[in-house]
Amino acid sequence: MNRTVLITGATRGIGRETVKQLCSQDFTVFATGRDPNLLDQLKETAGCLGEVFDLSDSEAVVSLYETARTSLGRIDVLINNAGFNPGKNPVAEVSAEQMDASYAVNFRASFLLCREALKEMSGRKSGHILNVISTIARTSAPNYSAYCSLKYALHGFTQCLIKEARQVNVKVTGVYPGGTDTDFRPEERPDYMRAESAAKMIVQCIHTPQDVTVHELVYRPMVESNF
Ligand SMILES: NC(=O)c1ccc[n+]([C@@H]2O[C@H](COP(=O)([O-])OP(=O)(O)OC[C@H]3O[C@@H](n4cnc5c(N)ncnc54)[C@H](OP(=O)(O)O)[C@@H]3O)[C@@H](O)[C@H]2O)c1
Repeated sequence: MNRTVLITGATRGIGRETVKQLCSQDFTVFATGRDPNLLDQLKETAGCLGEVFDLSDSEAVVSLYETARTSLGRIDVLINNAGFNPGKNPVAEVSAEQMDASYAVNFRASFLLCREALKEMSGRKSGHILNVISTIARTSAPNYSAYCSLKYALHGFTQCLIKEARQVNVKVTGVYPGGTDTDFRPEERPDYMRAESAAKMIVQCIHTPQDVTVHELVYRPMVESNF
């Protein structure tokens, strides 16, 4: 059966590869990001729908959900994938602006989209929400507090959502990828997972049999030992 997907952070990295894989299967995808050129390229090559939205704006996030729902007819799968590291610096140097920016994109946008999705999906008593978090929320690292703390917030929220959504037959998965070689980091890391591989894990999780729910999907490159 054809299923519809809304995915954020689709213009690069893990999100872009997830869109390509879903579009080559039986999914109709609404993709979003900020870069209009990258989004246009993706729409053309993968065959997805999509529109540019800046997730740091809470009103834009709510209108993204409505735009995607109108465009797709319904949303069966929501993938909250967008995220960014507002800067690697010691706590003494973290600015309020960095923390606010991390909150807006790494937590609030996903929270708002989950809220909108749950309203829709609970009516149908079906659906799947996947929140892309990080293995950083299973550990910690110096100089990562602005990123790490809001990924922990998303982890905590996802755990609550799993329990609420279960009551209306909606699946929720916290996705915890480890190091992946994408534009997320300034330096190339060929020893890390490829974006295609990280995406493949997400797509496989969407294919979980109907009578199974995956609460946590934790995966890493073999070089990673921070567990
Ligand atoms: N790469 C890793 O090692 C790693 C490890 C663990 C978890 N993760 C998580 O996995 C997810 C995907 O990461 P990635 O490595 O694929 O990152 P990436 O290559 O840097 O891509 C990030 C995506 O998020 C979008 N985005 C960022 N800020 C946005 C905003 N304000 N509004 C709308 N879209 C925004 C970007 O859109 P534009 O470029 O169009 O602005 C881009 O499509 C993130 O949540 C990240 O935290 C990554």
